[in-house]
Parts: sequence; structure tokens; C-alpha cells
Amino acid sequence: MDILLAGSFYAAEEDEWRRALAAALPAGDRLLTAPDAAQRARIEAAIVANPPPGSLQGLPRLKLIQSLWAGVDRLLADPGLPRGVPLARMVDPAMSEAMAETALWAVLALHRRFFDYARQQCEPRWHALAQRRADEAHVAVLGLGQMGGSVARRLALNGYAVSAWSVREAWVDGVRCLHGDAALPALLADADIVVNLLPLTDATRGLFDARVFSQMRRGAGLVNLARGAHVVEADLLAALDAGQLGHAVLDVFAQEPLPAEHAFWRHPRVTVLPHVAALTDARSAARVVAQNLHALHDGRPLMHLVDRARGY
Ligand code: GLV
Repeated sequence: MDILLAGSFYAAEEDEWRRALAAALPAGDRLLTAPDAAQRARIEAAIVANPPPGSLQGLPRLKLIQSLWAGVDRLLADPGLPRGVPLARMVDPAMSEAMAETALWAVLALHRRFFDYARQQCEPRWHALAQRRADEAHVAVLGLGQMGGSVARRLALNGYAVSAWSVREAWVDGVRCLHGDAALPALLADADIVVNLLPLTDATRGLFDARVFSQMRRGAGLVNLARGAHVVEADLLAALDAGQLGHAVLDVFAQEPLPAEHAFWRHPRVTVLPHVAALTDARSAARVVAQNLHALHDGRPLMHLVDRARGY
């Protein structure tokens, strides 16, 4: 089978993916990065990492689009994305564990006030702040997909009082799980720390705006590990400046890379990460891709398919 590899990769990243995929793909499958017209006509699967819009047009035999990214919002926004071709997102337990580690670090740093101590070090100031137990810190996890579920579980195992919210009903051991729009305001009002892991859809775009910030506990922390477009950035800055929010840990931004002049870079109450909360691990992700390609070869059901109407 001929397979297209398309994405916005750094050169070293593309080499790493080529090596990992070549080692994992079914025998006889061929990976092409710059196919000519005759080769495009034979391509049956595309492995993609946010490819430039239109990259998947003109592939008449395409039977599977496999994303190397967990979130497929950018792919779905491409008007040239072939309709009717199954689209699978990346679901890799190694990525979910990495996400759980990042969330745990951010929640620990907020709960134990390590970001406040970092600010004090800049002054410099030697001053002990009040210390609370983990079970006294209410953490709300928004989104209970693979990533949100792993995060909620890890935080609960570390003793936090975790509540989680999802659009549809879901369960996680040791976590108070709520669903539906009506449950969200009370959950947010009760949380010391909110961790966002929602998929980006029309319903969740701009969710974190001035109104939602005003519903949150005064001084609460926000950890956004999902998509920048979930947050109205000007409203977040206003909420931080007013003390309504205490600190924000942001891995994702409306514009990436975050422009050098953006206020987040230098804001004392913002911690910026360059979209690294859970990088796709080429070694484990290549095995996930190979499982789906084997399924395609054998005519078995494909895994991790996206519901395009739902958006994830
Ligand atoms: C990262 O943001 C991903 O969607 O994989």
C-alpha cells in the first residue's frame, strides 16, 4: 500500500517520523513524502500532522486519514479535507501519560504556590506562604476523553479533590464526574484550579471568557492544555490583572508560536509553555498508526475514528 506522510514538521522531526513509521508499518507498505501525480493516484492512506490546507486533495484511492495529533480541529477546518474518508485521531497511552505529568506539575505548583515562590525569588523575598493539603484543593478537569481521563485519574491518585466535566456522561474512579451544560457553572465556582482538556469545537471555542472567569473562585488557577482558542486572551489578561484569577499555566495559544510582543510572555502571573504538554512520541505513536493500517489491510474496523459532525 502507498501511504502519504504529510505535515508541518521540522526537518529532524520528519526524519524521526520516517524512521519510526518505516520500522512499524506493515511489510510492503511504502511511505511517500513528495509523491508525483502517478503516485498520488495510488495512495490509499495518509498519515498527517497538521498538513498545509489542501494537501489531501487529489487522492482518489484514499481510504484512511490517520492524524499524528490528538486534536483534529485544524484538519477539520481544512475545506479541502476529503469528505467520506475515515479520519482517525492519535490516541496513544504514552501521550496521555505525558499529559497527566504536565497537569500534575501545574496543579502541584499552583496548589503549593511554587509560582508565587518563583516570583518572590525575583524580588528577592524570603517569605513562607500558607500551606494546604492536596485534599483541600478542589481541581476541576474539563474534558474526559483519553487525556482528560488520564489527568483526572492521576490528580485523584495524588490526593486532590477532583471533579471532572464532560459533554456526555463519563466515569473515572475516584473522581466526581458531571456532564451537561447545566453542571458547569457550579463546578467552576467550586474549583481552586481548573484544568482544560476539552476538544475544540464550535461549542467550546471562547468558553473561557470574562463571564466564566467571573464565575470562578477569586484567585483560582487556570491550566490550559487543550487549544488556545478555548480562551479569550484579552479577558484572561483582564481577569489576571484584576486578581480574579491568581495564575494561568498556558501551553496553547490563539497564535502559535506565541508572538514575541504578546503580553503573556512577560506577565508575572502567566507561565508559558511552547505547546509541549504532551508531544506525540514517534516510537509509540508509530505502533498505533501501524495497528490502524493493519486493520485497513485486513478489512477490520478502524480505531479512534473522529465523528466529523461532533468535531472530535
Ligand atoms: C497536540 O496538541 C495534539 O493535538 O496532539
